[in-house]
Amino acid sequence: GTLVHAVSLTETEYLEHALLGVDEAGVIAFVEKEVPSGQVEDLLQALGWTGADVQVVRMRKGEFLMPGLIDTHTHAPQFRNLGYGQQYELLDWLDNLTFPAESKFADPQYARRTYEGVVERVISAGTTTCCWYGTIHQTTKLLAAICHRKGQRAFVGKCNMDRNSAPYYQEESAQKSLVDTEDYVNFVRQQCDSPSLPSSAVSRTGPTSLVQPILTPRFAISCSDELMQGLGEMLDKDEHLRLQTHLAENPAEVEFARSLYPSLPSYAAAYDHFRLLRHNTILAHCVLLSHDEMVLIKQRDSGISHCPNSNFNLRSGVARVADMLDMGIKVGLGTDNSGGLALGILSAIRSASTASKTIVFSERDAPRKPTSNGAATEIRSADGITRPSGFFASSHLPVETLFYLATLGGAQLCDLEDRIGNFVVGKEFDALLVQTGQASEEDAMGWAGVSKDRLGENVSGKSVEDELEKALSGAQDEGVVPVGPNPALLVEPDESIERVFEKFLFTGDDRNLRAVFVRGRQIGGVGSV
Ligand code: GUN
Ligand code: FE
Repeated sequence: GTLVHAVSLTETEYLEHALLGVDEAGVIAFVEKEVPSGQVEDLLQALGWTGADVQVVRMRKGEFLMPGLIDTHTHAPQFRNLGYGQQYELLDWLDNLTFPAESKFADPQYARRTYEGVVERVISAGTTTCCWYGTIHQTTKLLAAICHRKGQRAFVGKCNMDRNSAPYYQEESAQKSLVDTEDYVNFVRQQCDSPSLPSSAVSRTGPTSLVQPILTPRFAISCSDELMQGLGEMLDKDEHLRLQTHLAENPAEVEFARSLYPSLPSYAAAYDHFRLLRHNTILAHCVLLSHDEMVLIKQRDSGISHCPNSNFNLRSGVARVADMLDMGIKVGLGTDNSGGLALGILSAIRSASTASKTIVFSERDAPRKPTSNGAATEIRSADGITRPSGFFASSHLPVETLFYLATLGGAQLCDLEDRIGNFVVGKEFDALLVQTGQASEEDAMGWAGVSKDRLGENVSGKSVEDELEKALSGAQDEGVVPVGPNPALLVEPDESIERVFEKFLFTGDDRNLRAVFVRGRQIGGVGSV
C-alpha cells in the first residue's frame, strides 16, 4: 500500500504501491517502491520471505501507513484536569490546580487506575513514543510498568521538587530526592526491560528497551542547587541517562527563576551551570528564550519540545519555532497535558501551524530587524541540510515541516533518530495504519455509511432532499452517502494522496487509526491487521 513519511524538514515522501517488510524483531527489513500488486508474492520469494510465518497485509483503498507520532512532553497525572482552569497563568495554575491534582498520586490505587486509562487513550491517539512526567512519588513506577505492559515506547520520569512548591507536595530534601531517583531509575531499568533486539538489528549501542527512565527536575524554581548538582552528577556517571525539564515558559516564571540565579546571565544558563544541558536533554516550551539562550542550547545540542496548545491555553505566548529551526536547533512537538488539552500530537500539529501563522501575521505589522551584518548567510538545519539563514522565519511552518516535527524531529529530541521517525531499513517499525473516508460503497456501509432513506423522511416516506434533488437535476438516487469513520475527514474518490494526508493531519482523529504499531507489534487502533 501507500507509505507517507518525512525525509527532511521540508520534504514528505509519498510511496504508492510500496512493499515494506518487518521482521520478527520489529525492525524494517526492506522497503520496495512501486510494486505491481500481482508481483508481491514473486518479490517476497526473491527476497527469501516465504513460509507460513510470513503474513502479507494489503492495505485497503484510502489507507496509508505513516510513522508513529512522538509526544516529547506531557504529564500523565494531570489528565484528570484536562480542559479545566482557563483562567490561570502558569504559576497560579500550578498552585491552584496542578499540585493538588498531582499530590493524589501518593495513593497507588488511584495512580494505577488513572495511569492505566491515560496510557490507553494516548496510544489510541497515535502516540507511539511518549515523554512522560509522573509525580514526585514512587507510584511513577506504575506509570512506567503500564507503558511497558501496553508496549508503548516511553521515557518516564519521576519529578524532582525540593523547594518552592507546596507543603503537601514537595520532597523532604535534595538528598532524599536523589536517593529516590536512583531507586526509581534502577527499578525501571530492571523491571521494564524489553527483550533485546538481535545485534544485527541495532544500528548503534545503548539500551534498546522500549521504556526508559529519564531524569525530570520539574523546573529550576522547584529544584535546589544541591539537587540540580546531584542530577548533573548522575548524568556524568551514566551516558545512557537523559533529562527533561521546563524552560522559559511564562513571564512570571522566568522572572522568578532569574531571581534565584542573580549572578548567571539567563534561565538557560542556570541549567547549564549544573551541566544539565546535554545532547539528549529535552527542554519544554522555551517561549521566552533570548537569542543568547538559543545560542547556548544550540551549542549544547539540546532539543526543544514545542507545546503550542499549552502555550495558548496558559497564555504563555508563542514560541519562535521558525527562529529555532533557523539556528539549527532540534525541535519536536509536545501536548503538555493538562496545560494543553488534547490527547495526541495531531492537535499539537494544528496548534503549531496556528502559532506559526500568528507570528507571520504579527510580523506584517512589525517586521523583524534585518539580521545584523556579518551574520551567516547559510545555516545547517537539524536535519543536516544547509539552508539560507531566515529560511523558516520567512513564512508560517508548512505541512512538511509540521509533520517532520511530529515524527523525525521528535525522534531526534529523544536521541532515537537512528531507531525511529521514518521508514528506513534498519529502523524499528513504529507506525500508524490510517484509514480515511476514501471508501468503496461497501466499506462506507460498513463504517458509518448513512443510507439516505433512514434520514429526513417525511410522512410519505420520501425525503424532502430526495424530491428536491430529483427536481433540480433529475439525478439518480445513489443510496449511500460515503462518510468514513470520521465525518470530519471526507475524501473524494480521486483525491491525491498529498491532499488526503494533509486532510488527515488537520481533521483526522483516533477513529482514523486502524492500527498503532510499536516495534512491529500492534498495540492499539480501532481495527486489527
Ligand atoms: N512548569 C513547571 N511545571 C509545569 C507543568 O506541570 N506544566 C507546565 N506547562 N509547565 C510547568
Ligand atoms: Fe509541562
